[in-house]
Amino acid sequence: MEVVKNIVWHNATITKDDRHRMNGHKSAILWYTGLSGAGKSTLANKVEEKLFERGYHTYVLDGDNIRMGLNKGLGFTAEDRKENIRRIGEVAKLFVDAGALVSTAFVSPYNEDREMVRKLVKEGEFIEIYVSASLDVCETRDTKGLYKKARAGEIKNFTGISDPYEAPLDAELTVDTGSQTLDESADVVLNYLEENGYIEKA
Ligand code: ADX
Repeated sequence: MEVVKNIVWHNATITKDDRHRMNGHKSAILWYTGLSGAGKSTLANKVEEKLFERGYHTYVLDGDNIRMGLNKGLGFTAEDRKENIRRIGEVAKLFVDAGALVSTAFVSPYNEDREMVRKLVKEGEFIEIYVSASLDVCETRDTKGLYKKARAGEIKNFTGISDPYEAPLDAELTVDTGSQTLDESADVVLNYLEENGYIEKA
């Protein structure tokens, strides 16, 4: 990577604290991780819907969508996934600076990559949410038909089939979408945000 030269950080006039005061809530990254088909995007969108209805500033960065734009051209080798997650981490950090509760829905299979993002922001600004559903459940759902292709050898490096998934070791939250309803899972996240002072109690 190119060495950064002749660049000086400029401190913003309006700070993150100013934005928190204006918005009436704190900002953070809600980092959803889990197998393809575990329900990360569905849950992230449901939680956002509930937060948005309550007047909070929110945004969702979604794996498949980001890979069509900002991260177009990145594949699924460990190296490309790392770069994918690094960029998303930086973008999510900007959203935190902008005062939002930003959700990210990426497989992000490696502990090391998720830890890299955790370290980008301040303590308490990274909330790791393990969207846990067994490979069996995800493969049975096969919402995008990708597991079938992966089993047939048509997709290489497919997480859970021909590539590893490292479950979080110390996630702030774990939700089991195989046994909980979408509303129940979303409420687990909302409760965490309330109990930890990110948002007001309903
Ligand atoms: S990550 O590993 O780099 O975090 P990301 O979340 O951006 O992955 O993209 C995963 C999505 O891409 C999956 O939901 C699936 O739709 C699609 N996909 C295509 N190929 C693969 C693959 N080899 N492994 C995992 N997901 C894949």
